[in-house]
Amino acid sequence: MSRKTRTITALCLILCMLFTGCTKDKNKATEQPTETPTPTAELSPTPTPEPESEVEHMTLKDRYKDVFKVGVALNNTTLKNKDYMDIVKEQFNSFTFENEMKPDSLLNKTATQKGYPDTNTEPVLQFISIQNGLSIAQQNGFGVRGHTLCWYSQTPRWFFTVDYSDSGELCDRETMIARLESYIKQVMEFCQTEYPGVVYAWDVVNEAVDPGSGDANGIRREKNNWYATIGPDFIDYAFAFARKYSDGTAKLYYNDYNCYDKMSTIIKALKSVQEAGNIDGIGMQCHFGTMDSMRDRAYKAAKYFTSNGYCVQITELDIGSKTRAEGIEKLQAIRYKELFYYVEQGVKAGEINLDSITVWGLYDDASWRTGENPLLYKRAVGKLEKKPAWYGAMQDPAIEIPQN
Ligand code: GLA
Repeated sequence: MSRKTRTITALCLILCMLFTGCTKDKNKATEQPTETPTPTAELSPTPTPEPESEVEHMTLKDRYKDVFKVGVALNNTTLKNKDYMDIVKEQFNSFTFENEMKPDSLLNKTATQKGYPDTNTEPVLQFISIQNGLSIAQQNGFGVRGHTLCWYSQTPRWFFTVDYSDSGELCDRETMIARLESYIKQVMEFCQTEYPGVVYAWDVVNEAVDPGSGDANGIRREKNNWYATIGPDFIDYAFAFARKYSDGTAKLYYNDYNCYDKMSTIIKALKSVQEAGNIDGIGMQCHFGTMDSMRDRAYKAAKYFTSNGYCVQITELDIGSKTRAEGIEKLQAIRYKELFYYVEQGVKAGEINLDSITVWGLYDDASWRTGENPLLYKRAVGKLEKKPAWYGAMQDPAIEIPQN
């Protein structure tokens, strides 16, 4: 090879190396697969696990222990299920009987009818439906919300008739006032004697305000046998009897739904009860939807009731959705976070006088809102699983509240 040819060959080599090197660097990403194949998500057998949440190993009752109790509504099936109760004991420090403490469950129809007329103003009660739950509460340090003493619903019609018959005429005002007194006395005395200090709040009257179809003051008339027999002041009587028989260990509550919508009517309806000193607080049920503003519905109403001299409890919280659109569980988690955030901030700022939030049921399949999946847990294979909603209620920092 001549010198000239050698020089040209060397130059070509250098140029070729330079060119190849540049090209390689520039196209590293595209070239690499041919050398070392990078697994694509599709091929990967184990997707990257989500980073563990900061709140994973905390519990609801500990997270809020210095601010308010966290409760759950339970029925006797759940109360007897060990696995479910392990979760309840770990996460909550209060519960409410879903149905077991309502007049429907506590009134003993056979014995009351059999004993008539001796039972005319003293109905016979039975406590079998709440004994196991109250013992569990007593042994495990749960507080119980007593729900509910006087309600137009889930109270049998026979309780209001002259001779306790199913189809008899409704009885007179004086008899019904006496029956109301006897009923409240028996329920409260049973709990206070057998399980002292366990019940920390009584829903003395439930859902008595209905501005749409109520009377001039918004008191519910429709299907309301308390109104039909006693008249609108059944509310005053119920609270007067609850105060009379209370040993002072529990607060007395009025409980209702859609409070944000009927706040001033509720305040008006309870004016005489408040003046008589027979009421302590207002229970806001809070059956909400994922499109609702928690700030407007819960925080504002709680603040309003507080400014009117009442304690407040959130008594039946659930946030459901009729649609199963993608992302719905995330939105639900945001709503739960908003609710707990605004309420906690309100309590800490002294704007809200609230000491308890109760979720209305443990897991979706046990909810009364079938198909709306409104709760914090869902059933997975063989166990209950925390939903994003639980992380929301824990105010997981990874869940962002949209600013608007
Ligand atoms: C109302 C009552 C509750 C319960 C729900 C529906 O909110 O206060 O006890 O019956 O309705 O389950």
